Amino acid sequence: MLTMSLIFVFIVCGVASKRTLVVGHRGNGCSQPGCESAIPENTVESYLSAIEMGADVIEIDVWLSADNEIVITHRDKWADNERLYPSIVTMNNDTIPTPSDYSHRDRSRFPVKAAWSRDRPDPNMYLSQQYSTPHTPLTTIPLLREALQAVCPTGKKLVVELKADREDIGRLVMTEIEKYASFDCIHAISSFYWSKHQVLGGYHFDLLKPLKDDPRVKRALLIQVPHPDGVTSFIKAAKYYNASYLHPSCRMMNRWTEAMMQEVHQAGLEVMCYFGSQSMDKEADFVKAINKGVDEICTNSPKRLRNLIDKL
Ligand SMILES: *[C@@H]1O[C@H](CO)[C@@H](O)[C@H](O)[C@H]1NC(C)=O
Ligand SMILES: *[C@@H]1O[C@H](CO)[C@@H](O)[C@H](O)[C@H]1NC(C)=O
Repeated sequence: MLTMSLIFVFIVCGVASKRTLVVGHRGNGCSQPGCESAIPENTVESYLSAIEMGADVIEIDVWLSADNEIVITHRDKWADNERLYPSIVTMNNDTIPTPSDYSHRDRSRFPVKAAWSRDRPDPNMYLSQQYSTPHTPLTTIPLLREALQAVCPTGKKLVVELKADREDIGRLVMTEIEKYASFDCIHAISSFYWSKHQVLGGYHFDLLKPLKDDPRVKRALLIQVPHPDGVTSFIKAAKYYNASYLHPSCRMMNRWTEAMMQEVHQAGLEVMCYFGSQSMDKEADFVKAINKGVDEICTNSPKRLRNLIDKL
């Protein structure tokens, strides 16, 4: 208790008065062993739960299906999916579909199961076809429009992370937003796929470039790999893309010096740091990021971050 009070005093004394925004990472969800949430990530249920927990903004991941529908899933074509995303499996076997390989009409064949949470650690039970819980019935991968229709009327905003392996996804996402919501609901459009040194696994798409001159949205550069020159190259890239935000991992951002954070802010950029899906982000981690001067935190536990910020 004493330690906590000292931490709060330190925060209050050490940091500017602007409130840190709470961003729900894939909602208030989880898809990995040991998670806290019983709701699978990137489902409408997960977004509504994050709002209930006090998130200001919801972060979602979009892909294109084979028939050009925008579906929401973090399932990556190149990652170790069986380990990372066991909540999305086919009905008939335990393989996980790649969105660009299936048509959205097939979605019912790819149910999202209840999260493999701390309370239910048994993987065999988890992978069985029938597994679901009373509060999390089997659901399917949502379409972007379903997320827009669920979240936007609440007044909360979305960070839409572009994934996919096609550069026209940004344009298609913009059309969808125009049709089913309004641009006021979009906090930022982000991507890791914005330049050669940032792309994962050698894929050289640039998903942000087609949106770089679009005044209807703000852009964010996701950053996964540190650059030897500190933040200078990231700031230069942000100018090129007319980006408003840098989105580094919290672990990377915590290694930035005070001068680096100042350099970023003086360039007119804001910073959202994110915790990976396997991070069990705790108060101490939030405090560290807030003391660094972060503007927004994308967390796996919006409730815990909300509680902390409300006490400041
Ligand atoms: C599982 O099902 C998918 C889609 O129905 C199919 O493409 C894949 O080959 C199957 N995998 C196995 C191991 O049977
Ligand atoms: C840069 O983006 C903002 C919106 O974030 C927009 O208002 C402005 O017109 C853009 N500038 C250029 C040069 O595209």
